[in-house]
Amino acid sequence: MKIAKKDWLFIALVAGVLIVFFAISGEEKTKKVPYDENHKPSYEIFKQTGSKMEADKGCPQCHNEQGGIPFPANHPVKPKEGPSRCLFCHKLQKI
Ligand code: HEC
Ligand code: HEC
Repeated sequence: MKIAKKDWLFIALVAGVLIVFFAISGEEKTKKVPYDENHKPSYEIFKQTGSKMEADKGCPQCHNEQGGIPFPANHPVKPKEGPSRCLFCHKLQKI
């Protein structure tokens, strides 16, 4: 199929919009998961399984309300309310 010049212009326009969109959404405000001794195992799980949901399972072991590292009072979700999707908001750092 031959792509006409005006189609290329349209493709370029769509690509430009997408780039702007990703540039804006890539602006992180929520704290990232620190890459330290406590969190290295979580990075390892993600590397091995390629699944953020698998890595998520390890977080409540330390981050919980009962004697673990408590969440800030205004934290948007509590881990006991169903499966924790910590990494949905707290991104892993690029290592
Ligand atoms: C072995 C225990 C342990 C595990 C497992 C763990 N954490 Fe933590 N986390 C800590 C401790 C201790 C702190 C506070 C001290 C620090 O910053 O390291 C902390 C701090 C944090 C912070 C705040 C960092 C900051 O900049 O203030 C975030 C976000 C976080 N953890 C997310 C996670 C997520 C997401 C997971 C699961 C992928 C996870 N943690 C698993 C022990 C743990
Ligand atoms: C819906 C998004 C969302 C999810 C899901 C989420 N968090 Fe948070 N979390 C936040 C926001 C927003 C803050 C406060 C702002 C910030 O981190 O900069 C926060 C703060 C924290 C802090 C304190 C950071 C500090 O030192 O100020 C920790 C620790 C933390 N979250 C851990 C977790 C863990 C562990 C999970 C999974 C059980 C989790 N979060 C799931 C959005 C989320």
